[in-house]
Amino acid sequence: MNKKNPERSRLVAVVGLLFSSMFGALVLSSALADTIGVIGTGRVGGALGPRFADLGYTVVYGSRDPGSDRVQQLVARSGDGASATSQREAAQRADIILLAVPWRATEQVVKSLGDLDGKVIMDAVNPLQRADDGLLEMGVDTSAAQMVQSWAPGARVVKTFNNVNFMVMADPAAAGGPVTVPLAGDDSDAKAQVRQIVEALGFETVDVGPLRMSRELEGMVVLKLVPMFQGRIQDSWEYYFRPYPERGTN
Ligand SMILES: NC(=O)c1ccc[n+]([C@@H]2O[C@H](COP(=O)([O-])OP(=O)(O)OC[C@H]3O[C@@H](n4cnc5c(N)ncnc54)[C@H](OP(=O)(O)O)[C@@H]3O)[C@@H](O)[C@H]2O)c1
Repeated sequence: MNKKNPERSRLVAVVGLLFSSMFGALVLSSALADTIGVIGTGRVGGALGPRFADLGYTVVYGSRDPGSDRVQQLVARSGDGASATSQREAAQRADIILLAVPWRATEQVVKSLGDLDGKVIMDAVNPLQRADDGLLEMGVDTSAAQMVQSWAPGARVVKTFNNVNFMVMADPAAAGGPVTVPLAGDDSDAKAQVRQIVEALGFETVDVGPLRMSRELEGMVVLKLVPMFQGRIQDSWEYYFRPYPERGTN
């Protein structure tokens, strides 16, 4: 504090506080103004939609049957401004889209959503299929995320949430410890937006680089589901990437 003029210092501090809280409120209100379109109202959409609403986002669900009791109950759990409509309309009304549909439907869904140029797509889809030994394997040569990007070339696709169990999406504490949600994408601004959301939901994030790394992220789910498909569900895990100790300490 300015010892010569404590009153002036106090005034400066109060004005500074007011300015920063007004500015903070402006930043927050612009974040709150965003709408997230949740495409698919199953386990993933139903877990994350209400949590997006808790963060202050307006949630619009895209469903094949938006008027159904099931979807309307989900809407009722998703904050005042929530609604449900067709998948296309939800995507068009949103700034950010969560893609949470089965892989087998993904191409048809993405191509039906209309103009997605500039929109951020959070892609949670896993393109997995049963292998001969009963376990899972990748069902594509590249990744779901790269294929989504090819079906919506103007969108900004970020691979995320694909390796988290839907129950942990709803309640990260259910994992019993920290959970890492990797992010892959080619658009750094989109990745930053997604990172903010994922971290606000209570997860740690790690940026694993460009969208083509999604193949590795989707492959992590092949591993993760081994216990389940071997009937050892109690051995299941969530991924936690523990950072190296500080450089120089080894
Ligand atoms: N379950 C998990 O823990 C988990 C975790 C990470 C990632 N994932 C991935 O996330 C995606 C969604 O998984 P989920 O478990 O939420 O699946 P889900 O419970 O089967 O829900 C998928 C939703 O997609 C919509 N849908 C289904 N078939 C469709 C079709 N033919 N055309 C258009 N929309 C269709 C449905 O919503 P409407 O009935 O409202 O249309 C359905 O509720 C999958 O790709 C999965 O691999 C799942």
